[in-house]
Amino acid sequence: MARILPKFLYFCVIVFTFLSALMIIDSLRECSEEELTATRELLSKYTDQLQYVKNENKMLLKKQKSHNPDGLVKSNGWVPYLPIIYIITPTNIRAEQKADLTRMSHTLKLVNNIHWIVVEDSENKSSMVSRLLERSGLNYTHLNVLTPPQFKMASKDPNWLKPRGVLQRNAGLDWLRNQKRFLAEQGVLYFADDDNTYSLDIFQEMRYTQKVSVWPVGLVGYLRYERPVVKNRKVVGWFTAWKPDRPFAMDMAGFAVNVQLVHKYPEAKFSNEVQRGYQESTFLTGLKLTLDDLEPRANMCTEVLVWHTRTEKSSMKNEDKLMKKYGKATNPKIEV
Ligand SMILES: *[C@@H]1O[C@H](CO)[C@@H](O)[C@H](O)[C@H]1NC(C)=O
Ligand SMILES: *[C@@H]1O[C@H](CO)[C@@H](O)[C@H](O)[C@H]1NC(C)=O
Repeated sequence: MARILPKFLYFCVIVFTFLSALMIIDSLRECSEEELTATRELLSKYTDQLQYVKNENKMLLKKQKSHNPDGLVKSNGWVPYLPIIYIITPTNIRAEQKADLTRMSHTLKLVNNIHWIVVEDSENKSSMVSRLLERSGLNYTHLNVLTPPQFKMASKDPNWLKPRGVLQRNAGLDWLRNQKRFLAEQGVLYFADDDNTYSLDIFQEMRYTQKVSVWPVGLVGYLRYERPVVKNRKVVGWFTAWKPDRPFAMDMAGFAVNVQLVHKYPEAKFSNEVQRGYQESTFLTGLKLTLDDLEPRANMCTEVLVWHTRTEKSSMKNEDKLMKKYGKATNPKIEV
């Protein structure tokens, strides 16, 4: 393209000059029949060449577009020898799902060496999520597993009543453990919900995790933040209002694990059977960890770099109103 455009302009100038010259000559004297024919031939030759350059230009533009259909910059963000961050994100069908996943994918696009494992709570993979992942340009794995009805939350249930994303996180873990080729690679695993808010700094904090790195989480546990208590550069306990006596009293967003450790203890996983609030502890206990193994990050756990935000449930009550009044509401074919 950059090479073709000057060429194109060059030809335009030549043709223009040529035509001007012709007009001047023409106005000065009468042409003979032969001269006129020769000129016509020359003119048609230049027209052909101009057409050729134009076509070439068009083809190049097309080629460029097919590589990058939306005209956005697509860096694959892959740097050799940089530890890979595997991110397991459970996601469930809801009106706000695409909005949340879009925002999260844009955060991840700003981070190098991310592999995003998105696990849908559904019987089949949805085409919406498939397309979103494909278009994201990220390295990803798309999985799905349906939560059986007895573990499913009713929409009126308070959100802590039943554990969420258990089977989906386990499916992500299974996938990771089956990737034997990654055994040799440096990597870290992070469980990241699709509606949280992530500072880019948190990914730098976790990338070089030896065993398990930990940090504060904002807007969680009915507090401004929860955090590990650090003394002499070691985690000695938990600053939370609710059950600080749990073995690892932190939110899912508050830790990352070295992938080698995940391979070493294949039994460590989440469970639908454990007491409320004990998912994190169940998994981390399965990795045979003690407080002493934890690596406090985010300036010795004094900075909040991730927030447990929640997307408000959108009301659709005017859909019914429109339906009653006009017999139709919004077009279901338009994806939201
Ligand atoms: C999932 O896919 C199967 C096979 O294509 C189909 O029979 C089934 O109805 C689908 N389920 C849902 C909930 O869409
Ligand atoms: C991610 O993408 C890059 C670039 O396309 C590739 O080199 C790398 O192997 C991929 N990594 C994984 C884990 O899929």
